[in-house]
Amino acid sequence: MKEQLRKIKEDAFAALNNAASAKEIDDIKVKILGKKGEITAILKQMGKLSAEERPAMGKIANEVRADIENKIEEAKAKVKEKELAVRLAVEEIDITMPGNKNPLGHKHPLSIVIEEIEDIFMGMGYEIAEGPEVELDYYNFQALNIPENHPAKDEQDTFYVKGGKKKGDILLRTQTSPVQVRVMEKGKLPIRIVCPGKVYRADEVDATHSPIFHQLEGLVVDENITMGDLKGALAVFAKELFGEDTKVRFRPHHFPFTEPSAEMDVTCFACGGKGCRVCKGEGYIELLGCGMVHPKVLKMSGIDPDKYSGFAFGMGLERVAMQRYGITDLRYLYENDVKFLKQF
Ligand code: DAH
Repeated sequence: MKEQLRKIKEDAFAALNNAASAKEIDDIKVKILGKKGEITAILKQMGKLSAEERPAMGKIANEVRADIENKIEEAKAKVKEKELAVRLAVEEIDITMPGNKNPLGHKHPLSIVIEEIEDIFMGMGYEIAEGPEVELDYYNFQALNIPENHPAKDEQDTFYVKGGKKKGDILLRTQTSPVQVRVMEKGKLPIRIVCPGKVYRADEVDATHSPIFHQLEGLVVDENITMGDLKGALAVFAKELFGEDTKVRFRPHHFPFTEPSAEMDVTCFACGGKGCRVCKGEGYIELLGCGMVHPKVLKMSGIDPDKYSGFAFGMGLERVAMQRYGITDLRYLYENDVKFLKQF
């Protein structure tokens, strides 16, 4: 029996020395010390011993059990240490390695220009208005005094979502001017708004044309608004956008929804008005269309033209951005080439 116990201990120690995981150690523990384990089996045979032999054998059995229990704890600690070493090796982080850079984007030149213009007008007390890009023919044309068969509709051919060129038809707006009507219809006076947004025309893409581009519309309606107010507001705007020395010039023009109408030029940002390649020797560059809101347009939108008057203006934002940054081809603005966009 003594011999058996010695053998059990020896085998147990050997097995524990080789154990590579906590699970293996637990299995060994059950096999030797468990209820159906080897030591228990031996203890069960104690009854066969004489009364004198029993205490000595019991003592040896208990010692073997204690030795094995200690050895198990030791083996467990060893395995844990090994596992930790493996984890540390696998999960090692080289803190000297360069981190993952998340390149920070920045604003598109068009967005920069839009925000700048918005800021200038907000500084003058204007609010920002919005209107739908998918628009009724009524707002895009009819309510702006452009009736069904008006030739101006050919110049602004667009994409029709439903029908074509009649009052109830739906189209992609060709200008931001319909927002004027939508704001006036709300009937809250006085009005002082600017509205930037996308517009659409069935144009071929080239260096100065794109079927989608951006405009910014402005509208002021109140009592006693005159052409003097229009000129003053737009001259201040031009100075803020292009610099204090910028001069403006108004040329008579025609738009169906304003009367009188004009186009406003600003002194060339490149030569300051002397005449150069950029302004083709003119000294001035065309910036926007404007005029006094046509009485018919006021009336159609529910505003009494005998009591109120107003002015409106509209400009192409790609053109402003191109002038501002000396961009010679409009297509650069849409190509999303990071090398190009980074410059602004
Ligand atoms: N909507 C015109 C266009 O797309 C631009 C324009 C001209 C807007 C005169 C206006 C204006 O508000 O008064 O060509």
